[in-house]
Amino acid sequence: MKPGILVIFGASGDLTYRKLIPSLYDLFCQGQLPDCFCVLGVARSEMSDESFREKMREGVKSFSLKESKNTEKLDEFLKLLHYLPIDTAVKEEYEKVKIKLEALDGQCKTGGNYLFYLSTPPSLYETIPTFLSAYKLNKQENGVYRRLIIEKPFGYDIETAVHLNKVLRDHFHEDQIYRIDHYLGKETVQNMLVLRFGNGIFEPLWNRNYIHHVEITAAESIGVEDRGGYYDNSGAMRDMIQNHLLQLVGFTAMEPPSIVEATSIRNEVLKVFQALRPIKEEEVDQYVIRGQYGSSHIRGEYKEGYREEKGVPEDSRTETFVAMKFFIDNWRWGGVPFYLRTGKRLPTRVTEIVIHFKETPHRLFADPTKPVNPNNQLVIRIQPDEGILMKFGLKMPGAGFEVNTVNMDFHYSNLSDVYVPSAYERLLLDAMMGDPTLYIRGDAVEAAWNFVNPIQKAWKNNPDIPVYGYPAGTWGPENADNLISGATHTWRYPCKNLADDGVYCEL
Ligand code: BG6
Repeated sequence: MKPGILVIFGASGDLTYRKLIPSLYDLFCQGQLPDCFCVLGVARSEMSDESFREKMREGVKSFSLKESKNTEKLDEFLKLLHYLPIDTAVKEEYEKVKIKLEALDGQCKTGGNYLFYLSTPPSLYETIPTFLSAYKLNKQENGVYRRLIIEKPFGYDIETAVHLNKVLRDHFHEDQIYRIDHYLGKETVQNMLVLRFGNGIFEPLWNRNYIHHVEITAAESIGVEDRGGYYDNSGAMRDMIQNHLLQLVGFTAMEPPSIVEATSIRNEVLKVFQALRPIKEEEVDQYVIRGQYGSSHIRGEYKEGYREEKGVPEDSRTETFVAMKFFIDNWRWGGVPFYLRTGKRLPTRVTEIVIHFKETPHRLFADPTKPVNPNNQLVIRIQPDEGILMKFGLKMPGAGFEVNTVNMDFHYSNLSDVYVPSAYERLLLDAMMGDPTLYIRGDAVEAAWNFVNPIQKAWKNNPDIPVYGYPAGTWGPENADNLISGATHTWRYPCKNLADDGVYCEL
């Protein structure tokens, strides 16, 4: 791997403290950082190298997955960190960045290779690349690399996303831009490709002939915590569906790429997004249910409702829950419904993709006195407890042919000595190596916004579309159940409601 400097804008923020630096430390412990490497943290706060390092020491101790009690190792790592306070909104300040980087190049032998990481509020996403370019810090000449990693949100809607892409591409070539979606860094998400395209048994069934429907859930038990201000302007559709969940749809539904390589894989994801059947503004209430958590008691403890959270207006109509149904209009998926569900303050934290297979053509073993056995399911558990679960019917021992559902359950944790790296570890390493496979291309961002936009518009323009309430600790508004119709089909509930005195209500 080439040597290089990782320049983190927004270095005094939470992401740097909780994710970026601890992940770099984990890479360092595994010997995966380049031999010549250092980090330059850039932010407004006044800090010396030393105070930055001490702050990051705490971050590593709290959030690194690798042993951090080894003080010597940690001291050695912290020496790689440097800090520069500047006002990132002022063009002339970037001269300081340039001078500092040249000095570090001399000191760390990093050869002018820079990876800029924008971990700042989105209001700086246009400013920083523009000013970097003003000082030619974007120029890849004589074999050096200059790359830009950018965190979501990539725009607020289709118009702003197109505009942001344009500004970024005015200064950086698309190949230099790495748009991060940390879900793609999750081990089990990448494993989707191997599960599907590295096995003879699944792929032949992976289509409309054998699959009844696909269900993807990303549930969180936490509320909005201290992010009320940000979240209220975003909501679950922008925060989770437009990016993370649609990426999961992309990996679940894509055609086999011709080779395992960035362009090939990203082309296939884009094709899925282009085939999403648009939900028209006037159809939104039939296909999309939004909800907002209200207060409740969970195991006797009072949990605040969303509108009571810090930074959230008392009359907010921002959704903290979305359930939706849609179709992918292509050869493989014609007629197969896809269901997505995400929310805050649900009973548990779980992200999973469930492939529901069709039932047998004839119910040979059905007992008319019993409920119909659920169809075969393949559950891909993204988190926690990464793994894969296959559910199928088996004869119960004894007389007759009583069929019960049994599980074949693989847990990554069963593999001894296997370390599952964090998403940021994987993604940072890929960006340093110049591999954008697990980063989102600009055209895919726009295609995802195109799908989401009419829904956002309908919600904004039509106050009659309800925001259903749900008590914290439950699986969201009951209306979400109506999306999945048919006696034998419901959402999969990995655990029961936790709220003990909640009532469903409509806001
Ligand atoms: C972030 C969202 O992108 O993803 C958060 O902004 C959400 O609201 C988080 O909590 C979920 O990530 P994970 O990895 O915990 O599922």
